[in-house]
Amino acid sequence: MAQVFSRRADTIARTVIAVAVLLAVLAVLRLVGIIPPGAFAGTAAAPPQPRPFSHFHHVAEIGIDCAYCHTGVHRGPVAGFPSVETCAGCHLPVEPRPDLPPPLAWNRVVDMPDHVFFDHSAHVTGGIPCAACHGAVEEMDSTRQAFPLTMAFCLDCHRTEAAARGLPQTALTNCYVCHR
Ligand code: HEC
Ligand code: HEC
Ligand code: HEC
Ligand code: HEC
Ligand code: HEC
Repeated sequence: MAQVFSRRADTIARTVIAVAVLLAVLAVLRLVGIIPPGAFAGTAAAPPQPRPFSHFHHVAEIGIDCAYCHTGVHRGPVAGFPSVETCAGCHLPVEPRPDLPPPLAWNRVVDMPDHVFFDHSAHVTGGIPCAACHGAVEEMDSTRQAFPLTMAFCLDCHRTEAAARGLPQTALTNCYVCHR
């Protein structure tokens, strides 16, 4: 009698079942808290970092303010990264580890092309929360980009906010606002 299912079909069925079981296990681990909240958050994969650093641990659990480490957010265009001294304020002594890359050479998570002008302080002092552009960073163990920061993403909010603030549309949608 002819075979109804090929060997290949058997392999495919096994693979599908294995993947389904794996997803179910991950879902249970997340529910009971072994996998922390936000582990599957965000659209992009987290880039590898030279040192482990968890926002979930430092922000959600310990309660450190974003601006304590990203000191530029109220002052100017660039949010900036904490210096070794900022970490060392809580983590002395920082042992030199010649076997590891320099501790603060973090790989960028969000990076605009050079032809885009962006300014943190304008948004932060204008009442736009970090999460509007970066998502729930405080839930991330590895920092990843939450939203695709496309021109449409920026313009969507700029149109809404211009209307809400009674500004002429062009005040926030003129090309010159973001391309200088
Ligand atoms: C309106 C959107 C928006 C808001 C609100 C915002 N950011 Fe950003 N953030 C960006 C963009 C866009 C970049 C990439 C900038 C670049 O590459 O020039 C960025 C980059 C960063 C960086 C990388 C370093 C740097 O300065 O480029 C850090 C850290 C950061 N943001 C933290 C924060 C924190 C903390 C807050 C809230 C206090 C915040 N951001 C609010 C859009 C935003
Ligand atoms: C305001 C205090 C404070 C600052 C600033 C701080 N940390 Fe922490 N960090 C802590 C505390 C408290 C713990 C928990 C200590 C423990 O569990 O033994 C911790 C734990 C850690 C851990 C291990 C736990 C984990 O899995 O996340 C690492 C790695 C770490 N910090 C890296 C850093 C780095 C890198 C910096 C600078 C960018 C930094 N910390 C800045 C307070 C701080
Ligand atoms: C204890 C210090 C500390 C605190 C507090 C902190 N961050 Fe960070 N943040 C870092 C470090 C270190 C990095 C670089 C490593 C990484 O990407 O995880 C970083 C990276 C980021 C990035 C990625 C920037 C890029 O382009 O590479 C964003 C966005 C960000 N932080 C937002 C926030 C927000 C929003 C908060 C508050 C909810 C916050 N951070 C609180 C230390 C901190
Ligand atoms: C969630 C809403 C929101 C998003 C998303 C957003 N913006 Fe804005 N942006 C604003 C508001 C509101 C202002 C006006 C703030 C004020 O003047 O009080 C503003 C102002 C600006 C300004 C003017 C700063 C100045 O010097 O006057 C620039 C530049 C800018 N945004 C760039 C961007 C870029 C680039 C993006 C996308 C990466 C972006 N924005 C995403 C709300 C947003
Ligand atoms: C609110 C901010 C904002 C305004 C206003 C804005 N842009 Fe952009 N623009 C961006 C951002 C952010 C990017 C980068 C998007 C990306 O890489 O996906 C971009 C990218 C571009 C690019 C490059 C596209 C590509 O594929 O690389 C062009 C061209 C451009 N914008 C033209 C314009 C013109 C023309 C206007 C006025 C009609 C304008 N932009 C207004 C934020 C803005």
